[in-house]
Amino acid sequence: MTAYPVRRLRRLRQNPVLRRLVAESDLTPRRLVLPVFVKEGIDAAQPIASMPGVAQHPLEAVPVLVEQAVSAGIGGIMLFGVPEVRDAVGSGATDPAGILNRAIAVAARAAAGRITVQADLCLDEFTDHGHCGVLAADGSVDNDATLEIYARMALAQADAGADILGLSGMMDGQVAACRAALDAAGRSDVVILAYSAKYASAFYGPFRDAVESTLTGDRRTYQLDAANGREGRNEALADIDEGADIVMVKPAGPYLDVLADVAGVSSVPVWAYQVSGEYAMIELAAAAGVIDRERAIGESLIGIRRAGAEAILTYWAIEVAGWLNEGRSLT
Ligand code: PBG
Repeated sequence: MTAYPVRRLRRLRQNPVLRRLVAESDLTPRRLVLPVFVKEGIDAAQPIASMPGVAQHPLEAVPVLVEQAVSAGIGGIMLFGVPEVRDAVGSGATDPAGILNRAIAVAARAAAGRITVQADLCLDEFTDHGHCGVLAADGSVDNDATLEIYARMALAQADAGADILGLSGMMDGQVAACRAALDAAGRSDVVILAYSAKYASAFYGPFRDAVESTLTGDRRTYQLDAANGREGRNEALADIDEGADIVMVKPAGPYLDVLADVAGVSSVPVWAYQVSGEYAMIELAAAAGVIDRERAIGESLIGIRRAGAEAILTYWAIEVAGWLNEGRSLT
């Protein structure tokens, strides 16, 4: 009889209980965050065509969504506003009566400390040109003028009751500007989640539908180039220096190397955002019968977790939390 192979890596894979015991990564509902779109001026949920299963919600629906999130045991909800009116400077973002700030207030009241209420802090949903900042006379995005607006937006969101501000605009110095404004206003309690390594990505495509944003040009002068990994790490380290409490990599799936790299050097929690296009790809491929929907969702999420994300923003948060609560494995 042959004496080899002595090393048999299949040994630990031979049955489900062994596989469960030796699984390196797993996911728990508390690590999931649900992005929620709240649209001004509607009275019923409106499905988003490019994101089957995801809808824009009226303000009145927010307490129901919060209850679902609480029952599912997820970590929080991330709110996005879809305003009726947009202008060049994104006035709706800093107005306490703006749709996002109202949604935060409603969510915070409903949540009553049972889950975190998080808000997207960026101007693209509020500007008529669709950029994440205000424009200079030459049409470029004016970094420092935008920082002043972000600082006011941070205060408006904190006043409305947000626990965590998701700074997603990719302006240099945005974390420091918002931290300074919050601290000066006595709001050193408010958490800053920096979308540090946010890449200029085709995978945000369906999100544009979700927030009805029509972008003139592209975001390549402020979001990262997909070719660059080191730059993603630098962004995260810079944000930590500026006072970020949590850093994030986005999108998730195509940037797992950056995620792993940031997770290896970060002194603060590292999260990832599984974005609209990652969601749509799996939903549409599954609807076409090309892949197994639930297995693909589970695998995509466990991959993000394995790469080092401690929490994940995903449009499947409630559904997947339900699976986990039933004791199902994602693999
Ligand atoms: C900026 C923001 C975007 C997303 C989250 N925050 C869009 C962008 O930067 O183009 C995309 C999320 C997704 O695609 O699911 N407000």
